[in-house]
Amino acid sequence: MERLALNGGTPVRRTPLTTGQKWGWAELQEILEVFEAGRYGRFSGTKVAAFEQAAAEFFGVRHAIASTSGTASIHVALGMLNPEPGDEIITAPITDLGSVVPILYQQAIPVFADSDPETFCLDPADVERKVTPRTRAILVVHLFGNPCDLGAILEIAQRHHLPVIEDCSQAHGAEYQGKLCGTLGDIGCFSLQESKHMTTGEGGLTITDDEAWGERGRLFMDKGRTRQPGWGRRTYLFLAPNYRMMELQGAIGLAQLRKLPDIVARRHANGTRLTELIGDLPGLRPQRVTAGGKHTYWHYALAVEPEGPYTAEEFCTALRAEGIPCAPYYIGQPIFLCADSVCRKVTFGSSQLPFSLPTARPIEYTEETCPVTMDLLRRMVTLPLTEFWTNQDVEDVAAAVRKVALGLAARRGSK
Ligand SMILES: Cc1ncc(COP(=O)(O)O)c(C=O)c1O
Repeated sequence: MERLALNGGTPVRRTPLTTGQKWGWAELQEILEVFEAGRYGRFSGTKVAAFEQAAAEFFGVRHAIASTSGTASIHVALGMLNPEPGDEIITAPITDLGSVVPILYQQAIPVFADSDPETFCLDPADVERKVTPRTRAILVVHLFGNPCDLGAILEIAQRHHLPVIEDCSQAHGAEYQGKLCGTLGDIGCFSLQESKHMTTGEGGLTITDDEAWGERGRLFMDKGRTRQPGWGRRTYLFLAPNYRMMELQGAIGLAQLRKLPDIVARRHANGTRLTELIGDLPGLRPQRVTAGGKHTYWHYALAVEPEGPYTAEEFCTALRAEGIPCAPYYIGQPIFLCADSVCRKVTFGSSQLPFSLPTARPIEYTEETCPVTMDLLRRMVTLPLTEFWTNQDVEDVAAAVRKVALGLAARRGSK
């Protein structure tokens, strides 16, 4: 057995894994056109509109609405649905707070369903258990690029007449049963923040094939304002923020969207190959790809086995010593325990709105809310897989993971 680098052995990797620039000449060319046109805003220039049109064509939907962040894109989705104050939105406990903040800003109540311990995505059975007469929508998160079990979730949603919002912030180009994530439910949302498959630095995109929701979302992104040509009396139809994307972001989005299929193919190939190489190791389970799904690997995620020969922390310490970056626990605890705005209801002034609404069902968020998730996060490990990883990188990561898993398991066995 090879000696672990942790114990003075030779690390598998001595140089950093390959990285690269996501923006290049194609983005620069698009930006130059913005400078030449001298039009920088959402409604004076052409780039954001062109980006939206290209995105709508890419996804095969009638409406694509660009915005300023993934959080904004989900807020636009909520704005489309226009829930009543106190309505409940069922969502995922392993996500960024950006999935939850828009729910609270629309005076709706987030209700967290538990995770599947193998796919790490929402457990449809718990989604069903969390449906109440107050449920207004289901907001799924395709975690790390792995599509949720949409077959089961869409069936539940249809039976309860609930729209499904797909948070595809980590799942650009992911597919379920051959269809792009974001187009299977009613509304799809994407973060275009720097770490994502395609990026405008910061930014968001909301897509829908529904005409009425598309119209409303477009207004919601722009303060509810009906825009007539020229000056004149203004009309704002309802309460909404300003989430207008700027022209430079739209320009970059156009170039990034053209690159997306290649980025997705590379990430998918890297992740699939890595699983082939490390899928059989003691004490370790790679995130299982949902049946019928195509995973596009925003991160590569694993879980150490419950009662296995090593902990997530021990595994990561040893793997980092081999020269492979990784982190234990992902977000550490379910998102509702990470955020005082949820678990302690610290929201607007001292009001605790929307939780204090007379129309809201009383709700508490505790460690018992999602027990599977609590356990899963304690065992989770993430690796920063990218489209820039070469075949050699994948081989080295696999060799290091293999060495560490076998080495730590043997150590336990010999105790
Ligand atoms: C699943 C998920 N949803 C929402 C967001 C929020 O996106 P943004 O940071 O662009 O607002 C993120 C960002 O990381 C995310 O990963």
